[in-house]
Amino acid sequence: MLKIKIAPSILSADLSHVNEEIKQIEKYANLIHVDIMDGIFVPPTTIGSDFAKTIKTKIPLDVHLMVHEPSNSYIKGFIDAGADSITIHEEACKNPFEQINFIKKNKINATISIKPNTPLEKIKKYLDAVDMVLVMTVEPGWAGQKFIESTMAKIKELRKLKPNMDIEVDGGINPYTARVAFDAGANVFVAGSSIFGEKDRVAAIREILNSLK
Ligand code: DX5
Ligand code: ZN
Repeated sequence: MLKIKIAPSILSADLSHVNEEIKQIEKYANLIHVDIMDGIFVPPTTIGSDFAKTIKTKIPLDVHLMVHEPSNSYIKGFIDAGADSITIHEEACKNPFEQINFIKKNKINATISIKPNTPLEKIKKYLDAVDMVLVMTVEPGWAGQKFIESTMAKIKELRKLKPNMDIEVDGGINPYTARVAFDAGANVFVAGSSIFGEKDRVAAIREILNSLK
């Protein structure tokens, strides 16, 4: 069976104390999900690679670029900041192979992501080149939105095509929706508000894990 991975999203954490926030969940997280928004691909802007460099953790960073046409030097900033995996959006890049090849040349994992309304068809040609697929379960841009269940059809189809690949879900993930996504075939779970919005973050992660048993 594929390994279940929990990826708390620091978008919902207190970024003025990001390392303390991460410390609380470090033992129970498999990845730290870092959301980068450029104000173009999505309306909000968030942090950049200079901030990412200040994150101190042994847990691999899962950098989600909601960024229009990220250049090699832009991507390199996050690799230098310690990214273990970099996600680009199919909708944001003219030729995603350019970014995927650059990420892989730097010997870290490459992930391709699709928004809820983007068909799986659009990324079939990249599946052999990437390490993971991120199927967005909300429109990218904001934490705290409602899980879009119709995205599960893409996960079911993708799992059939790629029985051993990591399939990540992001958006509206809580113990209940994590189970729905798990049953469809997802094994990597990003969660922001359902972890950092709770006082007891460890209990929140445990609840997600318990729902997957
Ligand atoms: C949204 C981001 C998510 C966000 C998820 O565009 O990509 O990673 O942090 O937040 P929740 O878990 O609150 O939906
Ligand atoms: Zn994200």
